[in-house]
Amino acid sequence: MTEIEQEPVVAVLNRILESELAGVVRYTHYSFLVFGHNRIPIVSWLNDQAVEALAHARSAGEMIATLGAYPSLAIGPLLDSHKTDIGVILRESLDAEAEALALYKELFTVVEGHSVMLEEYARQMIYAEEQHAAEVDKMLRKPGGLAASAHNPF
Ligand SMILES: [Fe+2]
Repeated sequence: MTEIEQEPVVAVLNRILESELAGVVRYTHYSFLVFGHNRIPIVSWLNDQAVEALAHARSAGEMIATLGAYPSLAIGPLLDSHKTDIGVILRESLDAEAEALALYKELFTVVEGHSVMLEEYARQMIYAEEQHAAEVDKMLRKPGGLAASAHNPF
């Protein structure tokens, strides 16, 4: 392991923190906009995603503090499309998750070979975010068919 340059690592971690905090707000906001027969399970799922995004934000913030750096108080960009269609909500979620996944992959490339802790953290988060994207993709598929959605990130 070679010595790690801290500044670019903290910069990516802060963007991850901001992105995950935006996820907390986004999923909470979406949860107010679901109507119809499937409201209860979908609202419950969206609330779970908000809780998970908060856990991810906390992990990123703790990692920044561990490195002796200052965690950002900013929040990532939020798209307000004023749509209540669950398909639109899920597609927007998948796009936002793809951006978060790209940040974790960026973190991995910065820390790879320099820090086992940060490398392992990035790996676990890539795994978690890819699993999440796969789940959303399955929710976007047409019932009765196997074909991946047009938003399939794989
Ligand atoms: Fe996340």
